[in-house]
Amino acid sequence: MRVTAVKALYFTGAGTTRLVAERLVERCGLPAEATDVTPRGSVPPAFGEHDLAVFAVPSYGGRVPAPMLERIALCEGRDTPAVLLVTYGNRAIDDTLLELADAVRERGFVPVAAAAVVAHHSLMTNVAEGRPDEKDLAVVDELARVALARLSAAPDARSAELSDVPGNRPYREFGGVPFHPETDATRCVSCGACAGQCPTGAIDPDEPARTEAGRCVSCFRCVAACSAGARRIGGGPALAAARAAFAARPPWGTKEPSISHVSEHRDARTRKGSPHVHGHPLYRRRRRHVLWSQPGLDPGLR
Ligand SMILES: Cc1cc2nc3c(=O)[nH]c(=O)nc-3n(C[C@H](O)[C@H](O)[C@H](O)COP(=O)(O)O)c2cc1C
Ligand code: SF4
Ligand code: SF4
Repeated sequence: MRVTAVKALYFTGAGTTRLVAERLVERCGLPAEATDVTPRGSVPPAFGEHDLAVFAVPSYGGRVPAPMLERIALCEGRDTPAVLLVTYGNRAIDDTLLELADAVRERGFVPVAAAAVVAHHSLMTNVAEGRPDEKDLAVVDELARVALARLSAAPDARSAELSDVPGNRPYREFGGVPFHPETDATRCVSCGACAGQCPTGAIDPDEPARTEAGRCVSCFRCVAACSAGARRIGGGPALAAARAAFAARPPWGTKEPSISHVSEHRDARTRKGSPHVHGHPLYRRRRRHVLWSQPGLDPGLR
């Protein structure tokens, strides 16, 4: 299948998923656009016949961030090949990739390759510092290489389809975390940047110090967006205690970057003696198993 351009969309709170998605796009070596669909009201790109789509998300509670599912619901694929990329803070991705694969399939995309990459934990900021490192980014480079190689060897996206990704249905339950941003009113210059960047409209643009906890998905995009340094992750001693407990659970501080891999399937010509008459399949398709490896997958922070 001929791929002539890459169109990526990504959700990012603290910025790591942007970095990883841009690396992937760059390594594809094709004309590309990467769209940040985090802010509320973002419009995803339109996909053409020879485009490769990239969907990149952080794992939140082992799931796809809810606003990203809303953005994906606006995408239109027509058997468009898609690469799936998840960043996670060294705990586990649980059902994130499966949920992402299901969501994009629903919109007409065909996952052909996927990876999960360890990244600095944006909430438990004492975990996975310095990640992604060069080894993590090598996984991203490999993902680009594998996706393009598989597509160039296949007549269409369906022939290169990823048959399986890790995860379970029903997906892991995740009701959010009890930590939300807080604002130092003495520093706030009322620029409105935080409200404009928020994916859910949780910040009142006329009163940015007010965050509606019920709408907040704790992405901390607003913290990254505030150049006045007026916003930070709230939670005080409870957050400090949670971070200490989290970091004390090895091997979250040491895990290697994991997964890359793609399903491989081959078209096996009908073997000697097999039916070969009109009406029978000329080719027998045999799927080989997906090569997933995710060393030390953890049971999760319950
Ligand atoms: C609310 C929240 C939930 C998270 N849940 C998980 C998780 O379940 N497993 C994990 O390994 N990391 C988890 N993380 C860490 C993020 O997946 C990781 O830091 C990611 O790279 C953040 O991407 P970003 O910088 O693009 O926002 C969570 C972070 C936040 C803020
Ligand atoms: S981005 Fe910072 S300075 Fe601007 S309104 Fe929000 S909190 Fe205030
Ligand atoms: S208010 Fe909550 S949802 Fe909105 S940007 Fe800040 S952390 Fe994200």
